[in-house]
Amino acid sequence: MLKADQIVADLERRQSSGASFEDLLMAAVQGLHDLDERFHWTGIYELFPDSVLRLGPFIGAPTDHVFIGVGRGVCGTAVAERRNINVPDVRLVQNYLACSTETRSELVILIRKGERIYAQVDIDSHQVAAFDENTVGLVQRVADWLAGLYESRERLGSGS
Ligand code: SME
Repeated sequence: MLKADQIVADLERRQSSGASFEDLLMAAVQGLHDLDERFHWTGIYELFPDSVLRLGPFIGAPTDHVFIGVGRGVCGTAVAERRNINVPDVRLVQNYLACSTETRSELVILIRKGERIYAQVDIDSHQVAAFDENTVGLVQRVADWLAGLYESRERLGSGS
């Protein structure tokens, strides 16, 4: 868990120095992306009240999937079923929305506090089964920290 602790410590340092919400999200995406060279696309999708996921900060090739309805694709299914999804081979998933034809595996970890889902971390790899249990744990740790960030923004009612 050391790597995830380092990312969280870095985020906390930035937060204490007055980094904005958007800067913190971007720093989290960067930290996660740098965890493993097999991560080819790393981003955050935010859940809006109209049940649509909207692409936030990301690293990797631009994607056509800027808006994804709940229930659509791997990302939308994770929200609809309120669970994380680890797909070892996207070629075997029927409702997969291709970001890149080179993608082989995908991990979606929800950013949530209990029943409240704020957003999700989405990571794609060109390698089959790139996400083992340890990786899932690392991403979960960072997603949990981000859930606290979303929760406090909501509590403070600071808008967007
Ligand atoms: N593959 C995702 C779409 C997002 S892109 O991978 C960035 C899905 O099936 O929902």
